[in-house]
Amino acid sequence: MQAATKHHKKKKKKLFSIQCEASILLLLVMMEDIANTVTIGATVPTGFENSAVEEVQEKLGTTARVSKNRGKIYFDITTDELRKVHLLKSLDNLFVVIKTYEDYQFKASMEEVNSDWKELAAELPWTNALEVWKLNNSIKKKKSHRNKNKSPKPDQKYDESIGCNETVTSELLPGSEEPEVKDNQTDVEQKSEEEKSSEIQDPAAAVAPLKFRVTCSRAGDNHCFTSNDAAREFGGAVQELFQWKADMTKFDVEVLLDIHDSEVVIAIALTVESLHRRNITHFGPTTLRSTLAYGMLRLCKPQISDVIVDPMCGSGAIPLEGAMEWAMSFFLAGDNNGVAVSRSVSNVKHILKKTHVEGSASGLAMDVVQWDLCNLPMRSSSVDIIVTDMPFGKRMGSKKKNWELYPQCLLEMARVCRPGTGKAVLLTQDKKSFTKALLQMRGHWKKLPTVWVNVGGLNAGVFLLKRTAEVYGSTSKNAVDPQTANDFHKEGKEAGPQEA
Ligand SMILES: C[S@@+](CC[C@H](N)C(=O)[O-])C[C@H]1O[C@@H](n2cnc3c(N)ncnc32)[C@H](O)[C@@H]1O
Repeated sequence: MQAATKHHKKKKKKLFSIQCEASILLLLVMMEDIANTVTIGATVPTGFENSAVEEVQEKLGTTARVSKNRGKIYFDITTDELRKVHLLKSLDNLFVVIKTYEDYQFKASMEEVNSDWKELAAELPWTNALEVWKLNNSIKKKKSHRNKNKSPKPDQKYDESIGCNETVTSELLPGSEEPEVKDNQTDVEQKSEEEKSSEIQDPAAAVAPLKFRVTCSRAGDNHCFTSNDAAREFGGAVQELFQWKADMTKFDVEVLLDIHDSEVVIAIALTVESLHRRNITHFGPTTLRSTLAYGMLRLCKPQISDVIVDPMCGSGAIPLEGAMEWAMSFFLAGDNNGVAVSRSVSNVKHILKKTHVEGSASGLAMDVVQWDLCNLPMRSSSVDIIVTDMPFGKRMGSKKKNWELYPQCLLEMARVCRPGTGKAVLLTQDKKSFTKALLQMRGHWKKLPTVWVNVGGLNAGVFLLKRTAEVYGSTSKNAVDPQTANDFHKEGKEAGPQEA
């Protein structure tokens, strides 16, 4: 009896220890998972957030969410997917989130806020984000400002004998076009203690401490501090924590402090230059960001063997983006300006060179022509999709010219576009001219919901039109001979706007 009880106890103990081992193992696996999952944030063209969310879902299989202040999305990835994130076409700038505070309680006085920045810096979970930053450096072609061969020049105001000094300067965040950001800025300070770097620093950092800057974007009225104040104080705390060296221009690490009312996001930048610059090397006066071009192209859902035309291509941002991403469609680009056509050709050549397929028939399914959109050298009903960025009448053309140009454009587009299935995605900020022109075209184009986007600070419409089944030339209104067309354009002229 005693022996049986002893045996039972032993069995129970063994079971308990197996259970413990299993729990520990599970915990370790879970910890591993947690360690590998990070939140990536990205700036996207304002207005195309949902399109970016869709792309993330399609290509990474993960759900992204749009930030409260527009123009940003967030999504979780495992670190092995970081490379794929760089290949997404909707994203401008990338960053890895250290921590998000949905409702940060800012104190009422500057002194209290400043002391909170110090506490905050010390309690943030930096490790994962810094690991991602390191991994990212090995992935991207790092356009680092850091010159590893030179020993860092001491800051002008840095005084080693004192061991502590601060410099705070302001500069505009390069490439910032978002109007929602009320004040943008940056900066940091100096304090040097030798070689106390944490294990987070890379081997090179053992010789020279990492250089960093803090960039603060702030929007909201209920703050007793400016973005400069926040950047300076938070930057000081970060410096104290890691013993990094502040450098506004030649930084290795850019810490982002994004404050929107009571929401605070602290992150580390993963891109030095926006990803929207991917295709263009020869810029024109109104070159469109590749991310906006991608958003416009997504709206028309290109299909295999579609003939897609940008009849006002400028430097070619739209058709180039299309030919790179939808290689099974054919892209035709044209412009009436010879310089613009040359720019497009140069951009195509550069891409072909970069992708080492110059001279190959299968290089890019794209051609560039000089033409007048009002008189296209193309057969009627031969085009599946038209995607173009029209002159806004500000930097390019004028509102007065648009009043005449837009109806002619829509008419000629209706002629070449396939009735019943054809689509047009047209970007313009000149809503008045566009709406008037469209009213005159009612029989040929059906307007679908418009997407409003931010183009260099301007609120512009991406007008999605569907070609109706009406055959061009079948009605008295569109059986246009030159005289009729003239009269038609004069009609518009009479009610035309004043030159903007
Ligand atoms: C807003 S820009 C396009 C910019 C272009 N998306 C880019 O990325 O460079 C408009 C273009 O329309 C062209 N354009 C104006 N009237 C035209 C016409 N009648 N036919 C063809 N192109 C025209 C201009 O030369 C200009 O390059």
